[in-house]
Amino acid sequence: MSRERTLTQPWQLASHTFPNRLVLAPLAGIGNWFVRLQARRHGAGLVVSEMVSSFGLKHGNERTVREFLRIHPDEHPVSIQLFGHDAAVMGEAARIVAGAGADLIDLNMGCPVRKVCKTGAGAALLDDPDKAVAIARAASEGSGLPITVKLRPGQRPGDRAGVTLARRLVDEAGVAGIAFHPRHASQQHKGRPDYALAAELVAALEVPVIVSGGLLSDEKAVEALERTGAEAVMLARGSLGNPWRFERLLGLRDGEPAVAEVAAELEWVIERAEEHLGADRAGHYLRKFYPWYAERLDLPRRLRLELVRAPTTAAARCALAGIVERHPAAAAA
Ligand SMILES: Cc1cc2nc3c(=O)[nH]c(=O)nc-3n(C[C@H](O)[C@H](O)[C@H](O)COP(=O)(O)O)c2cc1C
Repeated sequence: MSRERTLTQPWQLASHTFPNRLVLAPLAGIGNWFVRLQARRHGAGLVVSEMVSSFGLKHGNERTVREFLRIHPDEHPVSIQLFGHDAAVMGEAARIVAGAGADLIDLNMGCPVRKVCKTGAGAALLDDPDKAVAIARAASEGSGLPITVKLRPGQRPGDRAGVTLARRLVDEAGVAGIAFHPRHASQQHKGRPDYALAAELVAALEVPVIVSGGLLSDEKAVEALERTGAEAVMLARGSLGNPWRFERLLGLRDGEPAVAEVAAELEWVIERAEEHLGADRAGHYLRKFYPWYAERLDLPRRLRLELVRAPTTAAARCALAGIVERHPAAAAA
């Protein structure tokens, strides 16, 4: 009897068993160790890092390596995502990543950003399958870790280069899984993801496929798993400042977090960022985080502005204290 696939079931990729089918997507400039740890604390079964330059690792200074490859003992299983266009450099970077304690490596062959593609990396590799296969092979040999590749269907609608490449990556480079974002590179992050194409890829490959794209609501995440038959789903924009989504999707909580809970979570993030970057850099870095939490808090305008415009972590803490004290929902609780 066939069993319906649900988000709470464990699944396997190479030698790893993950406790559930929710994966934190790679998010450039965001998916550092504490954002990944936060997702794990709230239930994500696997977390993937922001993309890290293979050249940066090979040639990078000590601080680059230390910050990008920092892995917290409690965030395993963790995958570090690398990008680059040179197989030898990728092999060396993958060796460094394995030494840093990653469980898996994901290779970015889907990033549509010009700065990345013009070097021949990211989505540009969809059109250079021989090089893509060589890069995946080098990453595997350099690290000894299971390799996954994050792909798109192709450059433009109708283009299936990514589907063909996925087959070759599995057959010729021994890739252990594919993360598939079924929007073409020309669509960037807009438009309806083609889950039918993802289902086709799932049926064609004997390795696990993780589906990404358009999972902004809880219903969409469940629907993507069911419609594609993928092994797991990746939460990206829908997880920003919203780690509670993992718990909700796993049936561990109902509804939205209370004001005090959101404030405590943001306080946790601020502390981790200060520890990681020092207070000055953290104050700057976190400015992109505040609007996500402000949205969860549904703040009156003045309280919202106080938080999203906080120039320093001290100012953000002060704004948070005011929110807990004066927010209408907190007062009613
Ligand atoms: C801010 C941002 C940063 C991203 N960074 C990466 C990245 O470093 N590597 C990658 O493979 N995809 C990256 N993506 C793509 C996401 O992982 C995901 O595939 C995409 O956002 C689609 O999922 P969504 O529609 O649920 O957001 C990024 C997306 C966003 C919005």
